[in-house]
Amino acid sequence: MAANWKMNLSLDETGDLLERVRGAEVDFTKVDVLVAPPFTTLQLANRLLAGTDILLAGQNMHWEGKGAFTGEISPLMLKEAGCSHVILGHSERRTLFFETNEIINRKVNAAIEAGLIPILCIGETLKERDGKKTFDVIRSQLNESLKTSCQRRDLPESVVLAYEPVWSIGTGKTATPEQAQEVHLFVRRWLGENFDHDSGQGIRILYGGSVRPDNIKELMLQPDIDGALIGGASLRADSFLSIIRFYKG
Ligand code: 13P
Repeated sequence: MAANWKMNLSLDETGDLLERVRGAEVDFTKVDVLVAPPFTTLQLANRLLAGTDILLAGQNMHWEGKGAFTGEISPLMLKEAGCSHVILGHSERRTLFFETNEIINRKVNAAIEAGLIPILCIGETLKERDGKKTFDVIRSQLNESLKTSCQRRDLPESVVLAYEPVWSIGTGKTATPEQAQEVHLFVRRWLGENFDHDSGQGIRILYGGSVRPDNIKELMLQPDIDGALIGGASLRADSFLSIIRFYKG
């Protein structure tokens, strides 16, 4: 269960939320938990999460190791701040900041090289879904953004995928469990064909887009949904915790 806090939460708010999350009873043999704060609160989060099983991620990074890239952050900087993962190719990065599959592919490769696990986001817009282009879009996002990076590596250990239909992000319109399952299965098959069967089976595929306490259970019941990437509902301890503890409901 991965929390994408986007551009939210001050230092104080981060402290309050993480105090509550780390103090809660969670069976970490049943669920892996990760939070992705903004860059300015990563170090605080790292300090507060020390000694817990909760993982830390960046929300973006540059593909270069260092240099004249004003406003950017490098893979090693994220590692130094305590991150094990990094979210890449989020639809907000694609649409608002013009990131292409090619750019995202460079980032995916750089993350893996640096020993970070990319959480690679893919997903179609409403126009693409209405135009029956969902699978074409997903296929080309996978083809172009997962290129070369992992063939020589153990894919399930190296990459996490997140299917986030753009029309469901922040809109309250969750994909139905069947709609999500259909795409997750497609992704798993694509991985099986383009890497190998075990990669397809072993890789974690998260669903993201208006995940809430009242819909997590039905999403998690789908055979190819392994977890969730949660935006709005991860900003409050009560809703984030009830999503994390989906296995109880
Ligand atoms: P919401 O859960 O707010 O729809 O955001 C989803 C998301 O973009 C997670 O990366």
